[in-house]
Amino acid sequence: MPRQKTNSKLNNFLSLEDARAFSRLPIEKKASFVATLGDAEAAQLRYLWEAWARDKQVEPPGKWTIWLILAGRGFGKTRTGAEFVRKKVENGKWGRVGLIGRTAADVRDVMVEGESGILACSPPWFRPKYEPSKRRLTWPNGAIATTYSADEPDALRGPQHDGLWIDEPAAWQYEDTYDQAMFGLRLGRNPQCVATTTPRPTKLIRMLVTAKTTHVTTGTTYENEENLAPTFFQQVVGRYQNTRLGRQELLAQLLEDAEEALWKRESMIEAYRVTEFPDLIRVVVGVDPATADPSKKHSLDDDDNAETGIVVAGIAANGHGYVLDDRSLQSSPLTWAKEVVTAYHKYKGDRVIGEQNNGGALVEANIRSVDKQISYKEVWASRGKYIRAEPIASFYEQGKVHHVGMFPLLEDQMAQWEPLTGQKSPDRLDALVWALTELMGEMSAGEHVGAMKRRVELAQARKVKSAQPVQGGWP
Ligand SMILES: Nc1ncnc2c1ncn2[C@@H]1O[C@H](COP(=O)(O)OP(=O)(O)OP(=O)(O)O)[C@@H](O)[C@H]1O
Ligand SMILES: [Mg+2]
Repeated sequence: MPRQKTNSKLNNFLSLEDARAFSRLPIEKKASFVATLGDAEAAQLRYLWEAWARDKQVEPPGKWTIWLILAGRGFGKTRTGAEFVRKKVENGKWGRVGLIGRTAADVRDVMVEGESGILACSPPWFRPKYEPSKRRLTWPNGAIATTYSADEPDALRGPQHDGLWIDEPAAWQYEDTYDQAMFGLRLGRNPQCVATTTPRPTKLIRMLVTAKTTHVTTGTTYENEENLAPTFFQQVVGRYQNTRLGRQELLAQLLEDAEEALWKRESMIEAYRVTEFPDLIRVVVGVDPATADPSKKHSLDDDDNAETGIVVAGIAANGHGYVLDDRSLQSSPLTWAKEVVTAYHKYKGDRVIGEQNNGGALVEANIRSVDKQISYKEVWASRGKYIRAEPIASFYEQGKVHHVGMFPLLEDQMAQWEPLTGQKSPDRLDALVWALTELMGEMSAGEHVGAMKRRVELAQARKVKSAQPVQGGWP
């Protein structure tokens, strides 16, 4: 049992060692110790992170500039980032902090005001004042944090910080944000950055993992099971367990592209990525609706987690396609219809292309219930998904399709979907294929057969290679 000190000033209540010892006690022992405390001490213990954190959640030893926490969904990444910021500010180590989230809403709703964010972690006696309109937190000791959204890299040109917390950088649309932020990380004697994220094999994450100045901590969803709401745990584990993507989302492994996926991340997406695009002669919004099909309600296919794929793309005069946005979401029909209409207007769309497979005219009616004027075209998934996706993948291969920024969840689906294994094609990818098929047209029959042949040959070559006897193997 940890030693209880009579002097119960903040941070002096338990020594660091005692706090760490307390954190390793079984829950009943923790409870009986707390029962011996007065209110003031119990409150202090509650906010003493070292008394509750797992080993992987406290500051690692050694010299590093970036502490990269690559961990599964619900591991406690955000909480660890928030507690780290709090401690550095309380100890007077950080006075000008930058907080960067994927979007402005994420910084506010997750990093600052979220259940594991900075305000929730802060004790009443050292709570920062949050002024959302100024994008600023101010602590009682004068330390200041400014919030930034990763989709606005320009806001980071100029400001300097002595500490940074970046959340979910593997899901940022622009990696330039990271470069700008690191440029400004130059105040004080030991500027540091904590990065908390579910992994994804993006250029940025690969670079961070291998950098000498990075300390990498990895962990799985299961490690935090006892602190997760059972519904969250069941939902996320239920969705990903025993799937390829589950190795990334739950176990935090950096996945390679799936062998038989139509898209290769590096050579087909990364190689042609852009941050700016030319004038577009036509823009469409592809929609793959998650329609509740009553006839399917209880079938094995029934997917409670189905998303509606919403992808915006345009075509330039040179015939190249540009993927502008992925606004896919899991929502009620009314909410996704509003999202489609917002995207259509934001990008000055010419048409919405909606898949009518299950919903019949319902999809069009749903969209028109939000805006009657939308130009709408329905498409039917009469041919196999592979047949439709294949020519689009070939356009990528030829460098004719460019992603404007990064679309992490869409790109995960592209690099992981293996059509020949019979997996259902994912929603974001379907919306992308509808949009690009409308813009770039389909290949001629001849081109199509050629492309198919090439792929079959490639697949066969791979099989032959892997079937070759290993030297020094069987006699
Ligand atoms: N050591 C801990 N002790 C108690 N509660 C914890 C601990 N670590 C994390 N938690 C709690 O677990 C929950 C999930 O944590 P958090 O939101 O930080 O996870 P995350 O990895 O960021 O999740 P996501 O993948 O959804 O972003 C939160 O309620 C958080 O406060
Ligand atoms: Mg989080």
